[in-house]
Amino acid sequence: MSAVKEGNFDGIREQVRGIMKQPGYDDGSAGPVFVRLAWHASGNFSLVEHTGGSNGAGMRFPPESVDPANAGLHHAISFLLPIQAANPWLTHSDLWTLAGITAIEAMGGPKIPWEPGRTDYSTAEAAADHRGDISSRLPDGALGADHIREVFGRMGFSDREIVALSGAHALGRCHEDRSGYEGQWVVNPIRFSNQYFKLLLRDIWKPREWDGPFQYEATVAGTKLMMLPTDMALVQDSEFKVWVEKYAADQDLFFKDFAMAFGKLIELGVERDDTGFAQLVKKSAREGKP
Ligand code: HEM
Repeated sequence: MSAVKEGNFDGIREQVRGIMKQPGYDDGSAGPVFVRLAWHASGNFSLVEHTGGSNGAGMRFPPESVDPANAGLHHAISFLLPIQAANPWLTHSDLWTLAGITAIEAMGGPKIPWEPGRTDYSTAEAAADHRGDISSRLPDGALGADHIREVFGRMGFSDREIVALSGAHALGRCHEDRSGYEGQWVVNPIRFSNQYFKLLLRDIWKPREWDGPFQYEATVAGTKLMMLPTDMALVQDSEFKVWVEKYAADQDLFFKDFAMAFGKLIELGVERDDTGFAQLVKKSAREGKP
């Protein structure tokens, strides 16, 4: 990997596209796991406590690195390490979020707004000092609509934004050795589309009979597909379902809403000053303590 000039983020995007193809890994692409990395790096933000979010790249340290919700994301982090190593001017937190949006676009999805300027924690102690314990803030796939609204409401997302973001499950798969669940949501899991919503509306889903956690299954075009209980909650809840129907019928609307919501997700908690860089404000200072 060669270095690109400091501040040349288009050059970094090109390097991300260059390492996305990973023969022998999952469906041959690191794209889906890059998207999950950007989402989990950002999705532990709390509007009320003002902790969490993509700034800091805290997932390199405990408690986030050992949070069972983040199992498997070390694959994404390791795929990206050569880019970071070749470009020491680039922060992990900028790279993780940039890799997520670059992957979405490269897999046929919308262009998502992205700004640099995130700062990394330098040590585990610094991460702990800034964040406290913010594990257990990510959603649990076994639960229902109330849980989804609670988790995404904490980040400041509306029903419309929640459903749009969930469309990312058109990408990638569940791995038994990571989450306990198993299988892909759509027939082509490395193509960004509104297929997830179309499939959710079909009357094909049956509980899977197996020893693993409760999930749904169906076979479409000869391919075994799956849905989590939280995925099915989007059609079981009448207010969520309105948006599932809109996005199933109108891919352009889905792409537009997804781009806005994902752009908002990766900005949560990133407060840049007039130098353009985000500050790492200590949790104690944020709470008004000396
Ligand atoms: C994968 C749960 C929302 C993007 C997964 C997996 C689970 C899960 C259990 C499988 C992990 C594994 O075994 O490898 C949930 C729940 C959500 C949610 C419960 C909300 C209720 C989101 C959102 C995004 C997203 C908002 C992005 C905008 C992804 C992607 C994968 C994935 C791309 C595939 C990763 C891969 O192929 O390695 N999710 N998720 N998810 N999730 Fe979600």
